[in-house]
Amino acid sequence: MSPHDPITAPNRTLHPLIEDTRQLGSILDFVRWAASRMDEQQVFLGHGTTQYWDEAAWLVLDSLHLPLDLDGQHWAAKITPSEAAKLVDLIRRRCLEHIPTAYLLNKAWFMGQPFFVDERVLIPRSPFAELITEQFAPWFLHDAPPQDILDVGTGSGCLAIALAEYFPDAHVTACDISLDALSVASRNVGDYQLEDRVSLYQSDLLAGLIVGDDQAPLCFDLIISNPPYVDPDEAEDLPAEYHHEPALGLFADDHGLALVERLLDSAADHLTPNGRIFVEVGNGKRLIDQAWSGHRLTWLDRLNQEAAIFTVARGDLPNWRG
Ligand SMILES: C[S@@+](CC[C@H](N)C(=O)[O-])C[C@H]1O[C@@H](n2cnc3c(N)ncnc32)[C@H](O)[C@@H]1O
Repeated sequence: MSPHDPITAPNRTLHPLIEDTRQLGSILDFVRWAASRMDEQQVFLGHGTTQYWDEAAWLVLDSLHLPLDLDGQHWAAKITPSEAAKLVDLIRRRCLEHIPTAYLLNKAWFMGQPFFVDERVLIPRSPFAELITEQFAPWFLHDAPPQDILDVGTGSGCLAIALAEYFPDAHVTACDISLDALSVASRNVGDYQLEDRVSLYQSDLLAGLIVGDDQAPLCFDLIISNPPYVDPDEAEDLPAEYHHEPALGLFADDHGLALVERLLDSAADHLTPNGRIFVEVGNGKRLIDQAWSGHRLTWLDRLNQEAAIFTVARGDLPNWRG
């Protein structure tokens, strides 16, 4: 049996791009070939890597259960026929179906840690990583960290888990409107053994975060959110890779601002007196500055325009439009 045979999986239409795989023998051969095909097919990067070589190495090494920093001497190791079949199928799906590598592997890397992902959740890539690493300094001081933290629209739970790790004395609440997303988050919280420190709720933004007979709002010192903020009119222009992600995690009405506005209108009731909310809006800064020109939002200018995050203090929220 040649390494080529198992590739012709039933019910799959073959494409010329797999023609010459019989020549491939080593790990290095497969990574090189995958990188070339990805470039040739112009697959979109941005869900974990920025170079075709890195994307190819990630796909090949991870699917062979090898470390991403594999020692140079092992790159010449031979691939078995069944491994070759599996790799070619993955590379084919990456190049022709444009399925992001994280979904093909059911694994995304965020802040140096692995998270289970599938098409029920967005692939983690939030610029909140930088703020979490800095423990939200200077907005929160190291000797007075937030004790109760909320992550709205938690998806895979990656931000909530990172928050629990960087604020070891805090309790983190994470909510999402999607039960599908929450079941992925629950798996990740379990994988990180954080069940005691991260609570998951189904909630439409903050509406479900209430307790007791009097339905008192749950309150937090820090709320963060990476809500859906892409304008549905932009959907057609997005690379095919985005269309494998859940639309509920990407798109929001009113040119992407609908959920941001609702969140700000309801956040004051859920913040402690010195509390603060941080919201990621991607490239929505210009739109927000135009829509509410007198707003009291503070942009975090160290982040680039494509990854805009703003913050508002509890005290400014009742009048955040200015
Ligand atoms: C951009 S994704 C962010 C996922 C994750 N926090 C991250 O950074 O990778 C937005 C998430 O918000 C959730 N979502 C959408 N509408 C919502 C709503 N009205 N209330 C709560 N969550 C919502 C989606 O299901 C999705 O998981």
